Amino acid sequence: MIEFRNVSKKYETGDTEAIHNANFKINKGEFAFLVGSSGSGKSTMIKLILKEEEPTSGKIIINGKDTTFLKPSRVPYLRRSMGVVFQDFRLLPDKTVYENVAFAMYVVKATPKHIRRQVPMVLSLVGLSEKAKVYPNELSGGEQQRVALARAIVNNPAMLIADEPTGNLDPNTAWDIMGLLNDINLRGTTVVVATHAKDIVDKMKKRVIRIDQGNIIRDEKGGYDGEI
Ligand SMILES: Nc1ncnc2c1ncn2[C@@H]1O[C@H](COP(=O)(O)OP(=O)(O)O)[C@@H](O)[C@H]1O
Ligand SMILES: [Mg+2]
Repeated sequence: MIEFRNVSKKYETGDTEAIHNANFKINKGEFAFLVGSSGSGKSTMIKLILKEEEPTSGKIIINGKDTTFLKPSRVPYLRRSMGVVFQDFRLLPDKTVYENVAFAMYVVKATPKHIRRQVPMVLSLVGLSEKAKVYPNELSGGEQQRVALARAIVNNPAMLIADEPTGNLDPNTAWDIMGLLNDINLRGTTVVVATHAKDIVDKMKKRVIRIDQGNIIRDEKGGYDGEI
C-alpha cells in the first residue's frame, strides 16, 4: 500500500539528507509507528507519503502506483485515499464540529444526503455525537483531535496518516486517541503514526519503524524492545 524504494530526501537549504535511502513496505490493513527523536525525519517521511515533498531520489509507490511522475493534476486524487491528522488539529474555527466534518465531504462533492448520513456516523464513532453543534474553541484538546480524526476518516480513505497526533495531549487523552486510531485500523484502514510517545509505542505492540538522523535503523513487526 505504501512502499519506499531507496528513497532519499535532501532539502535545498539543508546540508545533509533528511531521509537517507529508506526502504520499507506497509501493507494494506497494517498499523505502523514511525518513531525517532525530534529532527530524525518523521515529518519528512509523512510529507513524502502525502506528496507534499518530493524525494531527491528513489521511488514512492502508493496503492501500487509509482507516484514519482504523477501529474500535479492527479495529486488531489492521491490525497483522497489518505486521511491526515496533525499535532495541532487544524480545525476550522468558524465552523461547528458537524460543519468541520461535513466540509471535508463537501469539498469532494459528496451529495447532501450522503453527508447527512455519514457525518453523524463518524461523530458517533469518535464519541462526539453530543458536541456536533459546538465550535472548536469550546472543546478540549482531546475532543478537537477527535473531530480531526472524524474529518480524516469521513470519506473512507484507504489509509490514515498521523503526524504526532498526541503531541499536544496529556497522557490519558493521548491513550484515548491511540485507542481510536486502533479502532479505525481494526475497521480495515491502514494506519501510519509518527510519534515519539515512547510509553504508547511500547505498549501497543505494533510495527515500529525507527528513524535516526534520516536512517531507518530498525523495523520490527508487532513488538518493541522499549528503546526509543
Ligand atoms: N522544509 C525544510 N527545509 C529544510 N530542512 C528541513 C525542512 N523540514 C525539515 N528539515 C530538516 O530535516 C530534518 C528532519 O526534520 P523532520 O522531518 O521535521 O523531523 P521530525 O519530524 O522527526 O522532527 C531536520 O534536520 C530538519 O531541520
Ligand atoms: Mg515532526
